[in-house]
Amino acid sequence: MQNTSRRKFLGLCLGGLGTAGTIAGVYSVFGYLAPHANEGASGKVTFPETDIPANGAKFLDFRGTTAVVIRKQSGELVALSAICTHLGCIVQWEKDKQDFLCPCHGGRYTPDGVVISGPPPKPLEKLAITITNGIVTVG
Ligand code: FES
Repeated sequence: MQNTSRRKFLGLCLGGLGTAGTIAGVYSVFGYLAPHANEGASGKVTFPETDIPANGAKFLDFRGTTAVVIRKQSGELVALSAICTHLGCIVQWEKDKQDFLCPCHGGRYTPDGVVISGPPPKPLEKLAITITNGIVTVG
C-alpha cells in the first residue's frame, strides 16, 4: 500500500515536471517568434522618451537587428545601428566616457557614431528618429 502511494507521488511529480517543461518550451518558442510589443507592422519602434536617462542609452530590437538610442549631453537624441561596422559585434554605450566601445576588438565611436579609433572601417549607421508628444519613434 505504501509503495503504491510512493509510485503515485513520483508519478505526479514527474508529470508536473513534464508539464512545466512543455509550458516553458512553448513559451520560449512563442516569445522568439512573436513580434515585439513596441515594434509596429511598419518596422518602426516606439517607446516613451523617459526611457532614456540623461547621458544614457536604450538598446532595442529593430528590424531583426539591434539599434541604440542615446541622449547626448546636449539633450539631443540620436538613433544608430548598434552593430559594429568591423565584424558585426554589438557596441556598448560607455556613459562615463560618452562614447561607444566595441567589446570585440576595441573599436570606439563618438555619440554620433563616427569612428574614433580601432579597426571599424566606417561609422555606425544613423537611423531616423522622431519625438512626438514624448513618444520616440525609430525608423
Ligand atoms: S567587431 Fe567591432 S571592432 Fe571588431
